[in-house]
Amino acid sequence: MRDLKKIELHLHLEGAAPAAFIRGLASEQKVSLDGVFDEAGHYAYDDFPGFLRTYEAATSVLRSPEHYARLTREVLEQSAAHGVIYTEAFISPDFCGGGDVSAWRDYLAAMQETALEARTEFGIEMRGIVTCIRHFGPDRAKAVARCAAETAGSFITGFGMGGDESIGTARDYAWAFDCAREAQLELTSHAGEWSAPDTIRAAWQDLGLARIGHGVRAVEDPCLCEDLAEAGVVLEVCPGSNVALGIYRNVDAHPIEKLRERGVKVTVSTDDPPFFHTTMTAEYEALDRTFGWGVEGLMAQARVAAEAAFCDPETKARLL
Ligand code: ADE
Ligand code: ZN
Repeated sequence: MRDLKKIELHLHLEGAAPAAFIRGLASEQKVSLDGVFDEAGHYAYDDFPGFLRTYEAATSVLRSPEHYARLTREVLEQSAAHGVIYTEAFISPDFCGGGDVSAWRDYLAAMQETALEARTEFGIEMRGIVTCIRHFGPDRAKAVARCAAETAGSFITGFGMGGDESIGTARDYAWAFDCAREAQLELTSHAGEWSAPDTIRAAWQDLGLARIGHGVRAVEDPCLCEDLAEAGVVLEVCPGSNVALGIYRNVDAHPIEKLRERGVKVTVSTDDPPFFHTTMTAEYEALDRTFGWGVEGLMAQARVAAEAAFCDPETKARLL
């Protein structure tokens, strides 16, 4: 399973920072990150709001382009060790210069340079999806969209939104997504991880998405599943994340198989692997064990991911 060539479409760069890496940065800066780690040194949280708090506290020690270069290298090396040959990382300008375009450019240059080195060294290709954070509100989302639009190109190929889905409506963020679309960026947003199926339809239609982050609660609405299947909308499904955060009891109870059976295009990702004690290999093993996907089923899913990747046609052709 580890050696199968994998494509990951949903990975938060900051959320992929190993706990030891963040502890190292904290000690270099002589700051104490109270409540961020448990006794075993893993990230600590009790529920989704707690997860978001820990996540944001951990990112507070990522303070310079050089920190992001080190993070990018660490994450790409880890992903490549699990057979990932192509990854799309969500990157948040809110944490890289606070939404200021010129600071963002410096952070981005550091990440892009590291990604090029990693391609040669570890054989992994990376693209960046600039991501706003829903609970930071629509104004900050606009600033993030401007960062995305200013730097759209061969490396920054997408725009997305993560964070707390209970805040506002999709329409509140439409300006940001319109701005990104005008800059030729491809679009995805977290929806239907926590919120009801109607919010998936709202995000998909009001924001004009090609892909949806999670979207698993679509399973509760057969009509929505039919529409998503017919439109070819791709779900970035992260089973280990959903189980770790308590949305589903275990992988057996996870709807990925039901969604696939209904013809919805599903792909597999890790979201924030160290937070959820997962890897792409572990996700593959769990799906094979639970639903009997086998190498064939897993490869079929990887082809869906390759087709849905936010990259140029030549790169895509190499992945297929
Ligand atoms: N940011 C990082 N991980 C996330 C998740 N699972 N849901 C929403 N926002 C996130
Ligand atoms: Zn996510």
